[in-house]
Amino acid sequence: MPVEEQVMSKTAKLDLGDKTIDLPIIVGSENEHAIDISKLRTETGYITLDNGFGNTGACKSAVTYIDGEKGILRYRGYPIETLAKNSTFLEVSWLLIFGELPRAGQVDELAEEIRKHSLLHQDMRHHFEGFPATAHPMAVLSAMINASSCYHPELLEVKKIEESSLSMVAMLMAKVSTIAAFSYKKSIGEPQRYPDPSLDYCNNFLHCMFSKPYGRYTASPEVVRALDLFLMLHADHEQNCSTSTARVVGSSEANLFASMSAAVCALWGPLHGGANQRCIEMLEKIHRDGMDVKQVVERVKNREFKLMGFGHRVYKSSDPRATILKEACDDLLKALGVNDPLLPIAQELEEVARNDDYFLSRNLYPNVDFYSGIILRTIGIPVEMFTVMFSIGRMPGWIAHWKEQHENPNGRIARPRQVYTGATERDYVALESRP
Ligand code: CMC
Repeated sequence: MPVEEQVMSKTAKLDLGDKTIDLPIIVGSENEHAIDISKLRTETGYITLDNGFGNTGACKSAVTYIDGEKGILRYRGYPIETLAKNSTFLEVSWLLIFGELPRAGQVDELAEEIRKHSLLHQDMRHHFEGFPATAHPMAVLSAMINASSCYHPELLEVKKIEESSLSMVAMLMAKVSTIAAFSYKKSIGEPQRYPDPSLDYCNNFLHCMFSKPYGRYTASPEVVRALDLFLMLHADHEQNCSTSTARVVGSSEANLFASMSAAVCALWGPLHGGANQRCIEMLEKIHRDGMDVKQVVERVKNREFKLMGFGHRVYKSSDPRATILKEACDDLLKALGVNDPLLPIAQELEEVARNDDYFLSRNLYPNVDFYSGIILRTIGIPVEMFTVMFSIGRMPGWIAHWKEQHENPNGRIARPRQVYTGATERDYVALESRP
């Protein structure tokens, strides 16, 4: 159950020479301590500076807990390992958005709503024609999520998501999957396959992706389970770049579609969700060029390039998602009898890096993107679609945070300050007098 944060009787003292002020200390439910600086500027005229927000709590949140030192990740208090073993993507989506595991019937209700919303408005098909076949699917996804708002003007003013607004949640989750598959079909010049309401979430997505006009694709249970697990493990990760983006955009009271579209754009970057594409491209290059793994690691240490799928702002021992995905990757390949040459390369890279002081001293370990790409490749997902897959998984997390932010009665528009370092006031120089 969520626990309200406590304000400690002890305060932090900030000595600014001629002035000392007391700053309240806030303690979270997992004993995380924070200094509340909300009154700092009003009382002292000072602001704080924190490059990349590495020390800044932007909000209080009850959705996801991470202890990066211990490698712990919990959704609403449930360890990710337990959920991975026992739960499903839809169940976890409900948990993230509504705060509790769904009761009997509630997951079916969500699945049913998703089925109802999986078709796009017929007019939206014309939008796909406007994109070149070479368009990156993340650009298409972000544009089409925003475009969806044009077809649902009644939802633009929605400020709260409750269980009664399940349809809105389902709409986003359904549309993102259909848009993703349609953009893939467009990129390979094949006719789009319409969703099939008799199929569940993962099977339906795979059908829209891989069924041909002349033949229906049926996924094996191992593939469906691997996809479901992939989506579940990507479903939330507290205040990362894309989730913070969803919250920042949402803080201006922009609608859910606009906020989700912005989050997709933030995820696209190679330092965030785009790393899964870059990681597999790196492994493919090592394989294609017959590169020696030890030499690759040396080049990384010489700062020629980064080891994609390695390192994390928060995790400093291990990323629990990577551990689960590594095992799942092994299981999937064995079950399907696939011999992917990239897997041993990834394993060797991990082994070399795990024994190298450069990586050890900087706490650099495989992150979620290191093994996930091999799973996606095995399922048949093309590399350019990898970050789109991450977006499909992250959608319930973004929605949960947008919801939480809108429910906060003390919520304010996100508006950071800056330390200005540009020119001070200057006189205007007329064009003819400029050197
Ligand atoms: N390969 C080689 N060196 C690295 C790497 C890497 N992947 N990541 C960090 N370093 C080095 C970095 O050069 C720095 O060294 P030094 O102190 O000597 O200058 C040190 O480690 C600390 O790195 P940082 O850039 O200050 O760390 P950060 O917290 O700002 O960045 C990161 C975190 C994930 C952006 C970064 O580790 C990275 O670029 N990794 C590769 C991209 C990647 O896999 N991203 C996916 C993240 S997990 C999925 C998600 O949620 O987005």
